[in-house]
Amino acid sequence: MTGQAHRVLVIHGPNLNMLGRREPGIYGSDSLADIDARIMDEGKRLGLLVETFQSNHEGAIVDRIQGALGTCAGIVINPAAYTHTSVAIRDALLAVSVPVIEVHLSNIHKRESFRHKSLVSDVAQATLAGFGAQGYLLALQGLARILSQA
Ligand code: DQA
Repeated sequence: MTGQAHRVLVIHGPNLNMLGRREPGIYGSDSLADIDARIMDEGKRLGLLVETFQSNHEGAIVDRIQGALGTCAGIVINPAAYTHTSVAIRDALLAVSVPVIEVHLSNIHKRESFRHKSLVSDVAQATLAGFGAQGYLLALQGLARILSQA
């Protein structure tokens, strides 16, 4: 890797702080701390400077996305339930205008119909759904490739 390492922000939306205890049959038994540790390891391996952030609050997520303006080269986001409702998060991602990879632990298209619609998918470069926590690692790999070609 040459030049400066790219800074990447990984955002986890509401209720993802409950991973490990929350519906483990759907979301798995790893805690968010376990998943974040794997994300940080993969970031290092790929030569990215990764920062992770979780919030249960829509405005806090919007603030964090805005804070990425001019400082982060890309964003990986699991907006969780806000995926299906938040025009504000969608607009913030558009405002920052860096490559966005959307991640869902579960395959939202195999679940209730209200989860089939994402307000983020069409502003994201790519979406990964159904790979569990591995989706975040695949997202970082994809983002590293996009950034290396930019
Ligand atoms: C989720 C899917 C959403 O529908 C749900 O509200 C979540 C998690 C996922 O990772 O599979 O909280 O984004």
